[in-house]
Amino acid sequence: MLGKTVEEALNRQINRELYSAYLYLAMSAYFETANLKGFAKWMRIQAKEEQSHAFKFYDYVIARGGKASLLPIEAPRAKWASAGKVFEDVYAHEQKVTGMINALVDLAIKEKDHATFEVLQWFVKEQVEEEEHASEILGKIKSIGDVPGHLFYLDHEIGKRE
Ligand SMILES: [Fe+2]
Ligand SMILES: [Fe+2]
Repeated sequence: MLGKTVEEALNRQINRELYSAYLYLAMSAYFETANLKGFAKWMRIQAKEEQSHAFKFYDYVIARGGKASLLPIEAPRAKWASAGKVFEDVYAHEQKVTGMINALVDLAIKEKDHATFEVLQWFVKEQVEEEEHASEILGKIKSIGDVPGHLFYLDHEIGKRE
């Protein structure tokens, strides 16, 4: 049985993962209007991945006999000045999420909840990848020069994501 404090924290994380999905979908919509279809596709896949993170937590809460409660999802911003600015936000956002996951690990330790600790280890590793991918793409955009005309090659590259 899941303790109340851990249950509440996991439900907040479900919400944050769904917000991440919403944020990346907003970024995808921005790239659609900027005619950067490859970036739009990458973001759409990213949104799905975040949704799957939310579902992982959701399934876990239920598996432990907890109650999944769905909180309102904050609206993401809709406009960015450039692709570089979008990926600066992605990188900053993923760093913030890493902090949230680490705080959950701290809580699991404090509450002596070994099962939650174990589930969170997958997220600890996932966040390393998430930060790595965001900073890698941000670096590529910076090296090309964050100018729409220069981004089309990179857009094609990024769009290869399956
Ligand atoms: Fe996530
Ligand atoms: Fe993420």
